[in-house]
Amino acid sequence: MTPVSLVLFLTFTLLPFTAGYIAPGLSKGTIREQKVWVREGSSAVLPCHLSPRKTRGSSKQLPDKISVLWRRHGGSVHQEPHVVLEVGDSGLQKTALCMKPRVSLQDSAWRNGNFSLRIAPVRSEDVGLYEAQVTYKTEVHSCHVELGVITVTLNPPSPVIGNELLLMSCNSSHRASLVEACWFHNEHLGPTSRTICSFSRTLSIFYPAMSHAGSWRCQLRYSDKEIISATFNLQILGFEGPANPVVYAAAGSAADLPCSLSYLPSAFGMRVVAAHWSHLAGGHLQKWDISQNVSSRSFPLHLPVVGPGDAGQYRCAVSVGHGTISRNVTLAVVTVTPSIQGPVSEGNRLLLICSLTHSQGHERFQWTHLDSAPTKSKLAVASSHHLEGHSSWMRPTLEIPQVSQKDTGTWECSVHGPEGRLGAVEYDLQITGAQVSSAPSILSGQVTFGLTLTLFFLLAICVVALALQKRAQTPAFPALEGMFAVTVPGKSVEENQKGKIQQTEC
Ligand SMILES: *[C@@H]1O[C@H](CO)[C@@H](O)[C@H](O)[C@H]1NC(C)=O
Ligand SMILES: *[C@@H]1O[C@H](CO)[C@@H](O)[C@H](O)[C@H]1NC(C)=O
Ligand SMILES: *[C@@H]1O[C@H](CO)[C@@H](O)[C@H](O)[C@H]1NC(C)=O
Ligand SMILES: *[C@@H]1O[C@H](CO)[C@@H](O)[C@H](O)[C@H]1NC(C)=O
Repeated sequence: MTPVSLVLFLTFTLLPFTAGYIAPGLSKGTIREQKVWVREGSSAVLPCHLSPRKTRGSSKQLPDKISVLWRRHGGSVHQEPHVVLEVGDSGLQKTALCMKPRVSLQDSAWRNGNFSLRIAPVRSEDVGLYEAQVTYKTEVHSCHVELGVITVTLNPPSPVIGNELLLMSCNSSHRASLVEACWFHNEHLGPTSRTICSFSRTLSIFYPAMSHAGSWRCQLRYSDKEIISATFNLQILGFEGPANPVVYAAAGSAADLPCSLSYLPSAFGMRVVAAHWSHLAGGHLQKWDISQNVSSRSFPLHLPVVGPGDAGQYRCAVSVGHGTISRNVTLAVVTVTPSIQGPVSEGNRLLLICSLTHSQGHERFQWTHLDSAPTKSKLAVASSHHLEGHSSWMRPTLEIPQVSQKDTGTWECSVHGPEGRLGAVEYDLQITGAQVSSAPSILSGQVTFGLTLTLFFLLAICVVALALQKRAQTPAFPALEGMFAVTVPGKSVEENQKGKIQQTEC
């Protein structure tokens, strides 16, 4: 049985003609009793259709010659019927005061024999037996509709603020005893749908979370086999996105920590002034206040430059209505540390250590040499071990046993999770060696060579001058001659130790 058919549980019963419903002296009436179940607060259409044949030949003067009277017989039998809505053949309309703005007839539909009564919104006191009398000339046709109301009560009322005990209750005006109440959540979503059944008409949710939001249907089963159900939408005012988000940022880059509400609080007449962010760093509590205007529900925390010391848990607290909702956001920082500080010489063994603070345990890492065209060489790291004492740190390490010129350039350590790429950090590797190939290295090599030559000549001149002087003053020490050392200055290849760092989308 589809939810729609359950929501609007219609029973078409042809009842015997009962004189009591029809004014005496008039004949040719038809009685069709129907039952309509409607959730309190939604709209109801009490159907009354007469075949146009009954009012044939009258289409031209229809509004003038037809009068409609809807009456309600109340909940109990002995209650006096009272007029709900009356449209006289002059077009004059009378409405019961208690239902005045909520009931309507669509007189444009009369031409098709549709005299249905619309009630919007329905209240629980609207239950009862309704009767329509459609008078055309001397003929009276009548319809009988029983309106039943299902009441869904949410305590506290919608929108429910996350983490407060929520009681959902379902009741109906049906008089039999309740056998079972079932609750269906997200029925149309297949695998994520849930069903809970109990003998109680109340369902308790101790910690309402965003996962409880969405469409619900309560179904009441009674001892007389009557089944009544109603659907409603549960709105939870909480945070968008996952419950405990993790933001991955490269050291030295900026990070934005998300804090977005699921609904605009002003849409529910709630005020939000600001969000309060806090972070405990080394025993010191840091605080930020993020203010937004009423048309915003997002309060992100922007950190211009992050380092490993900024990593950790951040808390975003937003005051809405009478309460405060908060959630934790974890900032994980990715850094690259080389095993050799300073320039790396060809042939050396080099380790590039990619460190991730606050690992969730499910991350995978990938080292990529971005500069090795045309195809990127990808080196998946086999083992990413946990260090003792830093259980939440992961250090996947890239080992280059013998550094060569082809390793020059940008290396990227990227972090991947089940949902895809989470973040990355880049490292620029510069190599010194005998065979210098790149243009800036040639230039610096030539300069160095020139400098060495000049120094050599200067020293040579000094030594020759010294030798000549010694020879003139003292007996010669031939052993001294030729004993001079030349210190070749180290190559002045530009050191790019810090590494270019770039953050990517998380
Ligand atoms: C009859 O009119 C009501 C509005 O008064 C409308 O909601 C309903 O759909 C109409 N029924 C048909 C069968 O057109
Ligand atoms: C359920 O509804 C019936 C009829 O409207 C009412 O008599 C009864 O007290 C209600 N029960 C609860 C628990 O609200
Ligand atoms: C409110 O903030 C939003 C986004 O932050 C912005 O687009 C909008 O123009 C702001 N409105 C006013 C009235 O300042
Ligand atoms: C957020 O972190 C604080 C401190 O670590 C903890 O007490 C709290 O339970 C956390 N809240 C959530 C919703 O995880």
